[in-house]
Amino acid sequence: MKELKISLFNEKKTLEVGNNISKYLFGGLLIFLKGELGSGKTTLTRGLIKGLGYKGSVKSPTYSLLEQYKFRKLNINHFDLYRFNTADEWITSGFQEYLNNVDVNIIEWSEMANEILPIPDLEIKFSYVNDGRVINIKSFTEKGYKCLIKLS
Ligand SMILES: Nc1ncnc2c1ncn2[C@@H]1O[C@H](COP(=O)(O)OP(=O)(O)O)[C@@H](O)[C@H]1O
Ligand SMILES: [Mg+2]
Repeated sequence: MKELKISLFNEKKTLEVGNNISKYLFGGLLIFLKGELGSGKTTLTRGLIKGLGYKGSVKSPTYSLLEQYKFRKLNINHFDLYRFNTADEWITSGFQEYLNNVDVNIIEWSEMANEILPIPDLEIKFSYVNDGRVINIKSFTEKGYKCLIKLS
């Protein structure tokens, strides 16, 4: 399967799915999170980071643009490009250097640097449905596919 749809009835479920994804990560994974403001991108990432055992608070990188979490086997780099004016800022901020084979890079608002960013392994699109949310997860690479089939 290359695409997976999951209903997120409430915030708890968003956190749960993030936690689930955290079990199937491996170094070098690039994940784009797309969807309107407030659709749950940061919440899912919070579940994922907590799932890896992080005890502190997981802040939205809206202002800092990047929050980094270090674990024994990998780092999570959590970006939010909402405040970018141009795609070039991805380069001038030095962010390109974070894309390697060891770290997991999660990018909210990847749309803001579309023309510069490489193809992701996974793309997660968030939509509002009634009071909850729904996500559509797509894989674009072999690595992404391996992660996606474990989730389904
Ligand atoms: N599945 C869900 N159903 C209803 N509310 C949710 C769900 N997931 C997250 N939320 C709530 O939506 C709000 C915005 O979430 P956030 O993760 O900050 O969005 P984004 O990062 O996409 O802007 C938060 O108050 C969160 O509690
Ligand atoms: Mg956010």
